Amino acid sequence: MIRSQFQYSKKVLKHFRNPHNLGKIKNPDGVGEVGNMACGDVMKLYIKVKNNVITEIKFETYGCAAAIATSSVITDLVKGKTIDEAIKMTNKDVIDSLDGLPPIKIHCSLLSIDALSEAIYDYLIKEKREIPEEVALRHKRLKVHSS
Ligand code: FES
Repeated sequence: MIRSQFQYSKKVLKHFRNPHNLGKIKNPDGVGEVGNMACGDVMKLYIKVKNNVITEIKFETYGCAAAIATSSVITDLVKGKTIDEAIKMTNKDVIDSLDGLPPIKIHCSLLSIDALSEAIYDYLIKEKREIPEEVALRHKRLKVHSS
């Protein structure tokens, strides 16, 4: 859902004011850190994985209300999912679960989906597991933009 220019949904404001799973995980199985090229904001996402299921997930985000809200909601969406289910998650899933974002804030939601993909990439590399094509391609794109 695309919202009017500057209007945040009630869900965005709720997550922004009271973010879920905020903080760091000690000894994480995977970490993803990304920056938003458009504004310079950054996000770090930590995951713990057991039997291929993401059992714990936390984030640290330096960014706008949309960045904080999308970071918070992605942790709710991903917790308890398998790695394969988490890989299939899209930007649209994140935006829809917040009842939409103003058009000028859509780019902010990329931070959370990219950080998730990078945390999964980090986990799969450490586990010496095969990297699915979509995760490898996103990693390559993010690396190109950050160098
Ligand atoms: Fe930077 Fe929203 S303005 S992530």
